[in-house]
Amino acid sequence: MSLPEITLEIPDIPSTVRAVAEAGEMASKFGFEEVEVAKIATATAELAMNIVIHAMGKGRLTIRMVAEGSSRFGLAVIAVDEGPGIGNVDDALEGGRTSSTGLGIGLGAVKRLMDEFSLTTIVGKGTTVTTIKWLRQDGKAAGGDVQTT
Ligand SMILES: Nc1ncnc2c1ncn2[C@@H]1O[C@H](COP(=O)(O)OP(=O)(O)O)[C@@H](O)[C@H]1O
Ligand SMILES: [Mg+2]
Repeated sequence: MSLPEITLEIPDIPSTVRAVAEAGEMASKFGFEEVEVAKIATATAELAMNIVIHAMGKGRLTIRMVAEGSSRFGLAVIAVDEGPGIGNVDDALEGGRTSSTGLGIGLGAVKRLMDEFSLTTIVGKGTTVTTIKWLRQDGKAAGGDVQTT
């Protein structure tokens, strides 16, 4: 069984718009509620803009459905770049320090918008941010409705 997945290079702002559309489309298709789709899209926009602005467009986003066991499904949005890395992760996650060039959302907000968030970074090498939003466990679209290709 393979779950849907797409990887998009993020060199510029138009590519961030495409990534947001792809994430939103995949999230709706898999049964996320509209508010959850909006949260995923917002987080995707921020992660993509960080690649453009802070990693000089040297990175990509992977959007994929993930499964835990046979009944828990989620949407992962993973940003990988070969930018300068983040020297002070705690500072970056504080949120209050978002720069004027960004969307004004920030990594702290991405963490709050998604259910899972992990950031690994090496100064001089790059940054990887992995996020997941889980589908609700009340059965709706969490099992049989999920299509695999
Ligand atoms: N992918 C990245 N590569 C390098 N530095 C980053 C990256 N993402 C974020 N940062 C650093 O962390 C800070 C906080 O990021 P963020 O919360 O997204 O706010 P903003 O993008 O508005 O500055 C940024 O100002 C930047 O210095
Ligand atoms: Mg940002």
